[in-house]
Amino acid sequence: MSNDDSTAPATAARLGVGMVGYAFMGKAHSQGWRTVGRVFDLPVRPVMSAVCGRDPGAVRAAAGRLGWAAAETDWRALLARDDVHLVDVCTPGDSHAEIAVAALEAGKHVLCEKPLANTVAEAEAMAAAAHAARARGQVAMVGFNYRRTPALALARAMIAAGRAGTVRHVRVQYLQDWLVDPEHPLEWRLRRELAGSGALGDLGAHAVDLAQHLTGSLLTAVSAQTETFVRERPLSGGGTGPVTVDDAAVFTGRLDSGALASFEVTRVAAGRKNALRIEVNGTLGTLAFDLERLNELEFHDHAQPGSEAGFRRILATEHDHPYLEGWWPPGHGLGYEHTFTHQARDLLHAVADGTQPLPSFDDGLQVQRVLAAVEESAAGNCVLTPVAAPAPTS
Ligand SMILES: NC(=O)c1ccc[n+]([C@@H]2O[C@H](COP(=O)([O-])OP(=O)(O)OC[C@H]3O[C@@H](n4cnc5c(N)ncnc54)[C@H](O)[C@@H]3O)[C@@H](O)[C@H]2O)c1
Repeated sequence: MSNDDSTAPATAARLGVGMVGYAFMGKAHSQGWRTVGRVFDLPVRPVMSAVCGRDPGAVRAAAGRLGWAAAETDWRALLARDDVHLVDVCTPGDSHAEIAVAALEAGKHVLCEKPLANTVAEAEAMAAAAHAARARGQVAMVGFNYRRTPALALARAMIAAGRAGTVRHVRVQYLQDWLVDPEHPLEWRLRRELAGSGALGDLGAHAVDLAQHLTGSLLTAVSAQTETFVRERPLSGGGTGPVTVDDAAVFTGRLDSGALASFEVTRVAAGRKNALRIEVNGTLGTLAFDLERLNELEFHDHAQPGSEAGFRRILATEHDHPYLEGWWPPGHGLGYEHTFTHQARDLLHAVADGTQPLPSFDDGLQVQRVLAAVEESAAGNCVLTPVAAPAPTS
């Protein structure tokens, strides 16, 4: 199949995928690509054509383990392959823009991990490349996979249907603890030139995306504090080096609906492993979620008489709940990895239908603008900082 064929996906029964990076996200995305066609009826089937890494032996081993047909050691060679029609970017943020823009210019569809980029300027270039590619029939999507947790997809549907009434508050905490240990090495996630920011870009990007996605509203201004508690960490070759990103960020914001939002994201909350907690309070009720119990959604219906009202637990595992049609009988539960299968499913439908998959690169750019406003506010001692206007949606 030629590269030109990749821009006519509506007629293609198979879509060759090429993935860059094969560690944490590469493993999770591989599972999504492997599973999606076995769980869901698809208009186009993914073929795991090739995976790319920089170490020849390690990438060959990863290809075998994760189920990729071939291995490449240069992402440009991956992009040049005729059997790759969609490029899945699972590398640290410093290479997202270069790989994604080149892939779009080479006629490929693109899935890019979050945060979309390390800077607003990079994200703007990526969004512009996605718009140009869209005109040629290609699609681009950013990997905010938590949108595809069934309980959170249900929460969004319930909020959109008015079950919470007018939203007054959105409260998001994303808490991890892997940096409590001061001896944790100075890996790429702790270096600004590679990661862009720390807990903010890593965890805060998800928190901001979900707050906006669940409510259907955008943040207009933020007031923030960030902190780096451990400022020097061990280098792998000996000695120590400076941590150049935040360990934690705390910020408040205002949504364009008039609701207030608050966020706390940290990698030093001892005992909290991957506690992404979201609560939405509205005039008619409250919805609450915790990723550590991801099959459950709590709902308080404020229309109930006070004598009977209270939070009830919705087990989001019914076949008519979002994404559940292909999975297990009610109550058998899904996990973290299934969000990547759902992500692959939605992206493949968009490719086949020629529709814009969400979240788009424009959405990723808008989140990047929020993250930039948070950093600007924190540098200015919490001063209320406007979020630059979002790019027009495609
Ligand atoms: N959606 C989520 O829940 C989630 C979770 C974790 C990380 N992420 C995001 O995924 C991305 C990757 O994070 P990760 O945790 O998988 O990191 P990781 O360190 O586990 O893996 C990064 C991979 O990229 C490879 N790589 C780096 N530069 C490369 C290059 N120039 N060419 C080819 N390969 C290259 C590395 O060898 C490695 O295989 C980041 O953007 C991160 O923010 C998303």
